[in-house]
Amino acid sequence: MTTKKICAAVNGYGVIGKRVTDAIRLQPDMELVGVSDVVSDYRVQAAAVLGLPVYTSLPERADAMRAAGISIVGTLDDLLGQIDVIVDCTPKGIGAKNLERYRAAGVKAVYQGGEKHELTGHSFVAQANYATALGRDATRVVSCNTTSTVRTLLALRDAGLLKKARGVLMRRATDPWESDHSGIMNTIVPEPHIPSHQGPDAQTVVPDLDVVTIAAKAAHTQTHNHYWIVELTRAASRAEVLEAFQAAPRIAFIRMSDGIVALNSTIELMKDLGRPRGDMWEVALWEDVLTVQGNELYYTYQVYNEAIVVPENIDAIRALAGTVKDGQESIHLTDEALGMRRDFLTR
Ligand SMILES: NC(=O)c1ccc[n+]([C@@H]2O[C@H](COP(=O)([O-])OP(=O)(O)OC[C@H]3O[C@@H](n4cnc5c(N)ncnc54)[C@H](O)[C@@H]3O)[C@@H](O)[C@H]2O)c1
Repeated sequence: MTTKKICAAVNGYGVIGKRVTDAIRLQPDMELVGVSDVVSDYRVQAAAVLGLPVYTSLPERADAMRAAGISIVGTLDDLLGQIDVIVDCTPKGIGAKNLERYRAAGVKAVYQGGEKHELTGHSFVAQANYATALGRDATRVVSCNTTSTVRTLLALRDAGLLKKARGVLMRRATDPWESDHSGIMNTIVPEPHIPSHQGPDAQTVVPDLDVVTIAAKAAHTQTHNHYWIVELTRAASRAEVLEAFQAAPRIAFIRMSDGIVALNSTIELMKDLGRPRGDMWEVALWEDVLTVQGNELYYTYQVYNEAIVVPENIDAIRALAGTVKDGQESIHLTDEALGMRRDFLTR
């Protein structure tokens, strides 16, 4: 690892952006230069109160932001002049318009799953393809569901166990901060197409995965829930499968026998463990539900959609900057700095 810190910034201080901001500030090899946004409400006011250098992504919004008490350090262009890497966490479609601007400023860019693979030509999950992101000018951290899919299926593949996988995803309706104005209630809404986009999206990271996903939106606001049926390459024991998941990064076991009987139990546990914002960065896999019959494996897990991509964003910053060449080393650095204690979750 080189000694100069990576100068990084976040454009779009929303659900993902504020979490990535906090994570950058915890890394020993990174410096957060600032955050940029366009709104002047409590979300960005909080950034100012927390002492973060706030920039405006649209100069015409500066007056409104100042009027709301946010002291603006400068424009997005001013910010770009001071950094090595930007993490674009703006809403789907907006970030794409910024890529040429980032390139012109000589700043590398990490995008989110709302953008298309074609924007950067590289889709990122640290354990899968850190090496091919090294030194690139841009990559895209895939969505929360796709991240969990790649993490778990690669764990099985790395153990020589994966033949093909079929998954059903029960998605959260909307994020809590916006549940006053969107989201469904008292119903389940199936996605109108099979496969849902997450399976093909996983193939943008690992092209030869044999995976199909079906998805539906449910009427809750926190975390997704996946159900998988996997054909293994051979008959295997439960212990072998658990070992494969345990050997992979960022997969943690939860148990019905510990009283973690539903999505809300895990959410409560994360708060009790003192995780920031009650976040969970790992895939939460129900160890005592997992079942193997011959060469078929069945399991269910929970995905904390607001948080799971945060460590991947940190690794993506390092990969683009090229300061840490080894993906495992970056994963270790990130997880240590976040305080991803696995003692409760791996015992
Ligand atoms: N919310 C999730 O669970 C989740 C999970 C994984 C990936 N993602 C992806 O992350 C990205 C961001 O999603 P989010 O949920 O954090 O959105 P969000 O709406 O919570 O946050 C977006 C932020 O960008 C700001 N913004 C809007 N226009 C801007 C502009 N022109 N310039 C700068 N900032 C601008 C908004 O004010 C807001 O603060 C999307 O690509 C999304 O698909 C979201």
